[in-house]
Amino acid sequence: MSLDSLRLLGKQFDQDKKSIADRAGLEEIRVRYLSRKSGRLTLALRSLGQLPKNERRDFGRLGNELRQRIESDLAALETRLAAGEDTVRVRSDVLDVTLPGFSPPLGHRHPITLVREEMERIFIAMGYTVEDGPEIETAYYNFEALNIPEGHPARDESDTFYICDGVLLRTHTSPVQVRTMERQRPPVRIVCPGRVFRRDDLDATHSPMFHQFEGLVVDEGITFGDLKGTLELFHREFFGEDTRTRFRPSYFPFTEPSAEVDISCIFCREKGCRVCKQTGWIELGGSGMVNPALYGFVGYDPERYSGFAFGGGIDRYAMLKYRINDIPMLFQNDFRFLEQF
Ligand code: DAH
Repeated sequence: MSLDSLRLLGKQFDQDKKSIADRAGLEEIRVRYLSRKSGRLTLALRSLGQLPKNERRDFGRLGNELRQRIESDLAALETRLAAGEDTVRVRSDVLDVTLPGFSPPLGHRHPITLVREEMERIFIAMGYTVEDGPEIETAYYNFEALNIPEGHPARDESDTFYICDGVLLRTHTSPVQVRTMERQRPPVRIVCPGRVFRRDDLDATHSPMFHQFEGLVVDEGITFGDLKGTLELFHREFFGEDTRTRFRPSYFPFTEPSAEVDISCIFCREKGCRVCKQTGWIELGGSGMVNPALYGFVGYDPERYSGFAFGGGIDRYAMLKYRINDIPMLFQNDFRFLEQF
């Protein structure tokens, strides 16, 4: 091979170089010129020995220069190609901070959950613990141990969902009173929120499933005054400082004496309005001193201990607090409703 054909090889490389569009193309050219077996420049340099002695030096020098040039040209090209690919990738991954944002939909707590948590907070601050009980209950805990004897109207099949003989969906949270006293010696200070079930048709003011909370305090020297003070404080915390609490004589088998609990109407402040049916008062639940008959079921000494209990509807508290006038709304899970809380 002559010096001229070496120069021609350089020119061909310059030509080929222009056609390189990607890394695969670049590799092809590298092989064509530099591969150790068949590269055109490699072969040319290998033929050095066949040249006349006086040409060998120039040929060698030119050949090596060409080799270096091809190598550095290809290296530069490789860098450019890699950068180009990066640019393409960066362009497609890029985050356009000027685009309008979107807000992910935020969850909301259900009003009943909000009320339950608020009730728990207030009672926990007064030293209570929060208890739980089964929704599927036995007639023993739901009725018998609460001094609701066989034949009592509250046991009526038309009010209670019976699962089978002696097993039912609890109709109130009061069975947790008995379960707690069975487990625990006084002092007892608990609240228990939970779901309860009754055979009512769903309408604006009834639901076959609703929520109650139960309270129970048993210790030495507990009086009706403690019950009044506790619920007064609770209602002031929950509905506002100017809320008054009223107790009306009533009857529950598991308390003696018993009282219905009202609060002063939070809408009209006792003047009389549609919500309180012009009475100025709103009925919220039942309460009383624990009937000593219950202590017989759990082995407490009625001479030593006394206690009070109360129970109310969480749904009702929620409806008053949030001005909801339709029970079904609480259970339909309509986002337009739930998103307001
Ligand atoms: N368990 C009663 C009910 O369903 C409410 C109740 C009344 C609970 C008086 C009590 C209480 O703890 O002392 O409707």
